[in-house]
Amino acid sequence: MVVIDQRRLPHALLHARWYTVANAAAGIADMTVRGAPLIGVSAAYGMALAARSDTSLGALHRAADLLAATRPTAVNLRWALERCLDVARELNDSDREAALRAFAVVLADEDVDQCRRIGAAGLDLIRERAQQAGRQVQVMTHCNAGRLACIELGTATSPVYLAHAEGIDVHVWVSETRPRNQGAALTAWELADAGIAHTLVVDNAAGHLLTNGLVDLVIVGADRVAANGDTANKIGTSLKAYAAAVAGVPFYVALPWSTFDLGCPDGASIPIEERDEDEVLIVNGGPVGPPATRARNWGFDVTPARFVTGFLTPAGRIAPTDMAAAAPR
Ligand code: MRU
Repeated sequence: MVVIDQRRLPHALLHARWYTVANAAAGIADMTVRGAPLIGVSAAYGMALAARSDTSLGALHRAADLLAATRPTAVNLRWALERCLDVARELNDSDREAALRAFAVVLADEDVDQCRRIGAAGLDLIRERAQQAGRQVQVMTHCNAGRLACIELGTATSPVYLAHAEGIDVHVWVSETRPRNQGAALTAWELADAGIAHTLVVDNAAGHLLTNGLVDLVIVGADRVAANGDTANKIGTSLKAYAAAVAGVPFYVALPWSTFDLGCPDGASIPIEERDEDEVLIVNGGPVGPPATRARNWGFDVTPARFVTGFLTPAGRIAPTDMAAAAPR
């Protein structure tokens, strides 16, 4: 399997090759690939790689456990693994390898289709705003919920790509997204590649932009949305939601169904990944603080559902209170 090595962007577009499930698990853990939907699809390919060497159910369960342990917050990972195991359970040992390979393609295709429909749900918002305002529409996003985090188009960026394709003048405020800089390194790279107007800002600029009328609409992605609409996304997302509420700016969360966790009642039940302190302490190869200083590095935060104006889903725009009823079973 060949993947884009996202750790090397924006400076180099390089690819990594995975031959085994251990390669896939390492590549998800070290963020060669990242972004909730892509993690799910990558895990499915990891299961197909596992089946190349052993198609017994025991071996496939062990492979799923290995992959599941890589990243805890994005529910797409567990969702994809459960679906792969469902496929395997229905078949004989001899049929499992081909079936899992084909199933990984099905999940990738499903993601493309769902991102397209998410885009259509958000395009209306941008179009309406362009018509009302008669000027460039200002969208704010956070982290990378673009095509690199998915297979095509992305979740939060999909409406922007479709608006741009339709000739609507749209500009995106991209926050750096410390400490891994997914905004600066990935979202900005994608938007530049697509020729879409964008400006990079430090994460702490969001309040200033939102309360000074410089943003029409916030659209972010999600790593897990609980049944009540509480939303886990990249750390810093909730601060944008709070500032958007103060400023009266609509705050939308874009997600495929694989990100919606009906079994998780609320945000307090979402496991939040805590990453290595060195991601915070070391910048450009050197320490940013004194040697004795320690850091904490939560990868995600939870935005309470009441701060979400609506969800952009493959089934259209949905209010937080209606998500559980709208989700496919
Ligand atoms: O830690 P990452 O880079 O895997 O974080 C995931 C994300 O990119 C974001 O939180 C994103 O908004 C959700 S993925 C569409």
